[in-house]
Amino acid sequence: MPMAPPPEILAAFEAAKGFMPADEGLALYAAATEAGRLGLPLLEVGTYCGRSTVLLADAARGAGVTALTVDHHRGSEEQQPGWDYHDPETVDPELGLMDTLPAFRRTLHRAGLEDHVVALVGRSPQIAALWNSPLALVFVDGGHTDEHATADYEGWAPHVAEGGLLVIHDVFPDPVDEFTGQAPYRVHLRALGSGAFTEVSATGSLRVLRRTGPGI
Ligand SMILES: C[S@@+](CC[C@H](N)C(=O)[O-])C[C@H]1O[C@@H](n2cnc3c(N)ncnc32)[C@H](O)[C@@H]1O
Repeated sequence: MPMAPPPEILAAFEAAKGFMPADEGLALYAAATEAGRLGLPLLEVGTYCGRSTVLLADAARGAGVTALTVDHHRGSEEQQPGWDYHDPETVDPELGLMDTLPAFRRTLHRAGLEDHVVALVGRSPQIAALWNSPLALVFVDGGHTDEHATADYEGWAPHVAEGGLLVIHDVFPDPVDEFTGQAPYRVHLRALGSGAFTEVSATGSLRVLRRTGPGI
C-alpha cells in the first residue's frame, strides 16, 4: 500500500471545502495507511465537508477496513455566521442553520468512496459513550474549545488499539500562530504526559502519536 495518495484522491481532497493544507493531508494519509495494517477501523472526529475524510477513506479502502467519521454537521463555534471560518454556502436556507452533511456526501460520492465510509451524525461525546471496540486510528479535528477537545480525547483516545495512532489537528504551541484556540495543543500535551502515547511525527499543526502504553 503506497504511503502517498493517488493523484485522483489528492485532487478530490483539494477540491473539497475544508481547512487542511496539503502537507498535513499527506501526513494524515501516511498515518492512516500505516495504521490500517492493524486491520481495525479508522475514525475521524470532525467531518465538515469531507476534505480529510477522503484521505482516510482511500487509506481504509487500501487496508480493507472502514473509515468512520463523526460530526453533528452544525459547525463549530468559529464556523458560525459572523465568525472568520463561516462559509455561507454551508447554511441550510430552509432552517437557517449550518448543515455540512450534503456537501460531505457530494465530496464522497465524487471521489467514489461512499462504500468505504460510515458517517456517524451526532454529538461526539454522545456517540463515543456508545462505542466499545478498538480503532487503528483516531483523528481528532472536532470542536476547538477546551470542553470539546477534552471530551473528544476522553471519549475516543481510550479506543486506540496498542500500536494504533492518535492524530491531533490544529496543535499550535505558540499562541501567536493559533487561529482557533490552543485546546488541541493542551490535549496533545496531555496525551504525551499520560505515558500512553509517543510522538511519531509533526507536520504543520498535525501531530501523530502512537499508543505505546495503556490508559489516556
Ligand atoms: C475543523 S472542522 C473539521 C474539518 C475537517 N476534518 C476537514 O479536514 O475539512 C470541525 C467539525 O467538527 C464538528 N464538531 C464540532 N464539535 C462537535 C461535536 N461536539 N460533536 C460532533 N461534531 C462536532 C463541526 O460541526 C465541524 O464540522
